[in-house]
Amino acid sequence: LLRSASQLLRRNRRRDYSAAAGGQPERKVAILGAAGGIGQPLALLMKLNPLVSSLSLYDIAGTPGVAADVSHINSPALVKGFVGEEQLGEALEGSDVVIIPAGVPRKPGMTRDDLFNINAGIVKGLCTAISKYCPNALVNMISNPVNSTVPIAAEVFKKAGTYDEKKLFGVTTLDVVRAKTFYAGKANVPVTEVNVPVVGGHAGITILPLFSQATPATNALCHEDIKALTKRTQDGGTEVVEAKAGKGSATLSMAYAGAVFADACLKGLNGVPNVVECSFVQSTVTELPFFASKVTLGKNGVEEVHGLGQLSDFEKEGLENLKGELKSSIEKGIKFAHAN
Ligand code: NAD
Ligand code: LMR
Repeated sequence: LLRSASQLLRRNRRRDYSAAAGGQPERKVAILGAAGGIGQPLALLMKLNPLVSSLSLYDIAGTPGVAADVSHINSPALVKGFVGEEQLGEALEGSDVVIIPAGVPRKPGMTRDDLFNINAGIVKGLCTAISKYCPNALVNMISNPVNSTVPIAAEVFKKAGTYDEKKLFGVTTLDVVRAKTFYAGKANVPVTEVNVPVVGGHAGITILPLFSQATPATNALCHEDIKALTKRTQDGGTEVVEAKAGKGSATLSMAYAGAVFADACLKGLNGVPNVVECSFVQSTVTELPFFASKVTLGKNGVEEVHGLGQLSDFEKEGLENLKGELKSSIEKGIKFAHAN
């Protein structure tokens, strides 16, 4: 018995080591909404990720074509397409990470909350299937309004008895991607070296970039610059929606952001140390039950939810101002899940 235990330990250590080296555990990733504007480029990026061994592409229409196309790329991930609800179970079974960009996007003049009526039901249905077919998967929620869809997912999982707060993530990486890009441009520092935490939620003023903590630090920016950078980050989604003029919202930058976050989840699962990304998760950082902040990702999902650190007076004010809207968006999601 002792010998087999030590063999198991050695094997697990080898598994950790190979994972830390960019490694080899078999990992299945499912994308729900894979034929959409985000889904297609995200499928491409996940097919290129060496940590993915199986890539499952699910949508209500169009996935056979996307899967056939992506599957010809000579990278290791085995790609399968699934279409229609009767194939959802097979698409999900055995998944380690499920990424959800299913649902309608905004048009000019709409808020993310205007998507609630359609997307809440879509997310609820997909999460019900996740709780049945891959209850241990890490769920990366992209569908808007994220401030409400994450609480909906949590309630669906609670009802099914499968909720694990360490495994549910609202994807806010695009806010970080934007904050990094805008800061680098304004501060004139190399964009690849920039880091900026973005906390709160994912809609308008609930998006709170913490430029006072940005690295590399700079004294080239005055208060007006920081205010403008904050506003541009908060309105980044609207900037794209308006530029696309009725043809949807961010898809390419979102696919990139979604791929960055899913990669971080996979690295965490594989035992790579110190993997930190911002995400909208169950939280005690403020009085709100869900909140985006820096999170360390580990073998079971969330390993640590980080606090906010030192805030500037401007950021403290932003934090107080966002709480009302974020609270009501969270409550709206919970109420929907209970009523439906
Ligand atoms: P899209 O319309 O191009 O694609 C959505 C896809 O979802 C379509 O292919 C559609 O068939 C599919 N779909 C609809 N119902 C489904 C169901 N029940 N099961 C599986 N698939 C289903 O939209 P998009 O541009 O890809 O955006 C998708 C969502 O992502 C929107 O809600 C958008 O607001 C959101 N979004 C979030 C972020 C973020 O930062 N979190 C960024 C950009 C967009
Ligand atoms: C974004 O931030 O680009 C997304 O949330 C899409 C949107 O509606 O703005």
